[in-house]
Amino acid sequence: MSKIYYIPQDEEQKDLLQLDSIMQEKRASERLIVLLLGSGGRESAMAWRIATSPEVEQLYIAPGNGGSENYGINVPELSGKDFDAIADFIASHGVNLLVSGPEEPLVQGIADYFAERKEDFPHLMVVGPNAQGAQLEGSKDFSKAFMQRYGIPTASYRTFSANEKSEAVAYLQTLHPPFVLKADGLAAGKGVLIVPTLEEAAKGFDDLAEGIWGSKGQKIVIEEFLQGIECSIFVATDGLNYKVLPAAKDYKRIGDGDMGPNTGGMGSVSPVPFADEAFMEKVRQRIIEPTLQGLRDEHIEYRGFIFLGLMNVKGDPYVIEYNCRLGDPETETVMLRISSDVALLLKAIANGTLDEYTLSEDPRPAASVMLVSRGYPGSYKKGYEITLPDPPHDTCLFHAGTRKLDGKIVTDGGRVLSVSSYGATPEAALKRCYTIAQQVLFEGKNYRHDIGQDLL
Ligand code: AMP
Ligand code: GLY
Repeated sequence: MSKIYYIPQDEEQKDLLQLDSIMQEKRASERLIVLLLGSGGRESAMAWRIATSPEVEQLYIAPGNGGSENYGINVPELSGKDFDAIADFIASHGVNLLVSGPEEPLVQGIADYFAERKEDFPHLMVVGPNAQGAQLEGSKDFSKAFMQRYGIPTASYRTFSANEKSEAVAYLQTLHPPFVLKADGLAAGKGVLIVPTLEEAAKGFDDLAEGIWGSKGQKIVIEEFLQGIECSIFVATDGLNYKVLPAAKDYKRIGDGDMGPNTGGMGSVSPVPFADEAFMEKVRQRIIEPTLQGLRDEHIEYRGFIFLGLMNVKGDPYVIEYNCRLGDPETETVMLRISSDVALLLKAIANGTLDEYTLSEDPRPAASVMLVSRGYPGSYKKGYEITLPDPPHDTCLFHAGTRKLDGKIVTDGGRVLSVSSYGATPEAALKRCYTIAQQVLFEGKNYRHDIGQDLL
């Protein structure tokens, strides 16, 4: 039988065309205008994925860096601390999706600020918890007490005020070395001391009480040392539903063999072989679900990412820390391993529709090697010109501490740039990173040579 085509009459045709243009307009108005706060490698990687989404009309990165302009428009004058200025920018640029890369704006209450101004910004979607939820990262004391309340596995601990030194020393005497002491508040990754002797622990207590890292007189958490291997798990949640992003491992110390001082992160790999289905089931049952239930029980609405810094202790996961954002430099690798639309993931988190979102993973292993300035994490010079190769299709160069100066890209921070690559195997991904790392040239370039080796 021949097919019968429906041919609309003139009037009908007009109606249909009109309907079509209304739908197109509606769709355009629903397209995302994204403001991403931050300036590091993590934000470059997020920007890359956000920009490739067909749902995104415009992406702004504030303040951004020397490479983030490849993905959107930098807003160098906008600081994550100035909520009023952010609000003005959102109003004048029609932003409908706000995402914070770093934790500070969240801990300082950016989500609460826009929740209070809901009437002014009825269409704004915000990714990231309110200040109460961000306490999971912002206060070690809060997060340890939270874990204890909900039976979430973590190192045993006690919290002391700065004037409780004798009680702290008495508690230290009940623990086995090495001793772990942590400043309660945000300390840009520098508030943790791990020392081999009681004397050093007592001295460390004084240093933390004096506010060497963080504020003077803040609370100090002392906890049991956990022996094992670490990994980072990122959970996206809209408060009710959750999705677990591909697992990653980062490398924190400056030197090969995990030697030397801690840094903001020297590289990362994904997947993590020991984070297999059995391990992840324990993570879901013992950590993720009780964490989300605990947040609900405490009426903390959490729409954002929960970063679980885990220690694998003989096959059992323990929480070392929570963060209220994605990790850096894990994100540089994890963004390569997500093949579904990241802008839609962010929208679903903010909208409470994560159950309708399908997260797809790219099966290929990926890795990142961070190129840093000589001297980092101590003092270093900035302003050296960077020569960049044309990366092959399986490699991304995610700028971190860079900026544009007279049309050139120059170094502008300790962690300069992440070379992030796919490979058919973990070895191939790492080999590709290291080949390209050699081709990126700048004065004083330094990087670790053993990223991922412990997992091969
Ligand atoms: P945090 O800022 O709490 O993540 O601690 C920084 C790093 O110190 C972690 O990534 C671990 O490598 C290490 N660390 C912190 N707490 C412990 C612990 N209880 N046992 C062993 N290592 C720890
Ligand atoms: N890579 C650890 C962090 O982002 O805190």
